[in-house]
Amino acid sequence: MPGKSEKRTRGTKSSPIIIKINGKAHEFELGRDLEPETTLSFLLREKLGYTGLKVACDEGACGACTVLMDGKAVLSCMKLAVEAHGHEIQTIEGLPKDDPVIKAFADQCEPGYGTALQCGFCTPGFVMAAKGLLNENPKPSPAEIKEGLSGNICRCGCYSGIARAVLHASETTEGGKK
Ligand code: FES
Ligand code: FES
Repeated sequence: MPGKSEKRTRGTKSSPIIIKINGKAHEFELGRDLEPETTLSFLLREKLGYTGLKVACDEGACGACTVLMDGKAVLSCMKLAVEAHGHEIQTIEGLPKDDPVIKAFADQCEPGYGTALQCGFCTPGFVMAAKGLLNENPKPSPAEIKEGLSGNICRCGCYSGIARAVLHASETTEGGKK
């Protein structure tokens, strides 16, 4: 696999990089606003202040930086910002406060499964991974939820509660959509 700096770049000074983020189009100039090697996570978090996503491992191993690109879950630490040109990005800040997946995570306290979050560090990544999963598969089985969220790590060990919350979100709504 090529290193981040070896990946193909897009955009020139004469052709800006345009990324729609949480419904709003942003224009960036290569060399001024970002560099060819700037990751999407760095652009979103450090330059634009979308601090919901977390950069924990910075190498694609934990899922804390998950965002949606055109409705699919992607690891923003493994995407170059220039690769998002022409695409639509959604971070957890772009979800409504009453989003059914967020609500299911907050409400989860079922005996035998526990809560879906303790410290909350992993939660935005899990929520966005769950949104991506439910976009592709609105009614996943428990096994499909386990598989779909297998790229995300929770150091507090809330896996049972998280899987239960995603199942409840899929049951109470049409695939987590209102
Ligand atoms: S920070 Fe991106 S996968 Fe861990
Ligand atoms: S709730 Fe603490 S890391 Fe998941």
